[in-house]
Amino acid sequence: MALVLSVMNIKGGVGKTTTAISLGSFYSLKGNRVLMVDLDPKATLTHSLIDTSAVLFKEGIYNTLIYGQQLPVISLREKLFLSPGSMRSCVLDQYEFEKVSIGLQRLVSSVAKDYDLIILDTSSYPSVIFQAACVVSDRIICPVRADYASAMALDQTFGIIAGIRPIDVIFVQHDFREKHTAQMESRIRDDHREAVLSSVVRRNVALSECMAERKSIFEYRPDSAGAIDYSSVAAELFERISESFYR
Ligand SMILES: Nc1ncnc2c1ncn2[C@@H]1O[C@H](COP(=O)(O)OP(=O)(O)O)[C@@H](O)[C@H]1O
Ligand SMILES: [Mg+2]
Repeated sequence: MALVLSVMNIKGGVGKTTTAISLGSFYSLKGNRVLMVDLDPKATLTHSLIDTSAVLFKEGIYNTLIYGQQLPVISLREKLFLSPGSMRSCVLDQYEFEKVSIGLQRLVSSVAKDYDLIILDTSSYPSVIFQAACVVSDRIICPVRADYASAMALDQTFGIIAGIRPIDVIFVQHDFREKHTAQMESRIRDDHREAVLSSVVRRNVALSECMAERKSIFEYRPDSAGAIDYSSVAAELFERISESFYR
């Protein structure tokens, strides 16, 4: 049965999708079957992995959640799969939480036996599907930048998700040269203590470039700082979750 991780933070542009792709790619390269599900109507995960001009995705997960249709899944390479997102999932906000939550639980149950890991990439606002994702997840991954606005958004995110599932906070887009970064890092570590991983992901332009190339950092620049940092993060995270990883 798959372990389910949600990547969440109501701060936009913080690095959720980059983290979802990097972790998904890393764990699949280590031999796990990984499904990444794009729950964000903006569908950045989808645009960052496949040429969406060649294939039009109108429905994404909408029909699966609301009408119980089979989940659309694309094979990206060996052991790595994507369920594409679409603007249509905005409509999910018009439904009751119960309906969406039951739909997501049914969706996860229907594919859980086929994968070792399911990663849900979420939007930057607490939509109905965002809240449903909290409930269906085994753990919640919160990428955060060490700046004031991100610290505020992290507190707000904790206000929504705290106490639901174990949370793993990961510093991303880190710049060790900035004094403000060091100050905010220590403040966030003080506030969230053991939730915060010791490994951090530095700001690294290859992580931006690889999105445009529709590759993970491990395929685009396996020797880059981004690849090295996400490997360390994935290894530390794996230690935290190893008890439940191969259930
Ligand atoms: N560690 C990093 N170093 C440099 N650029 C990054 C890093 N992490 C993310 N980015 C870039 O920041 C932008 C936002 O990242 P993204 O993962 O889409 O954020 P979110 O999903 O939280 O909105 C993208 O252009 C991405 O390539
Ligand atoms: Mg995103």
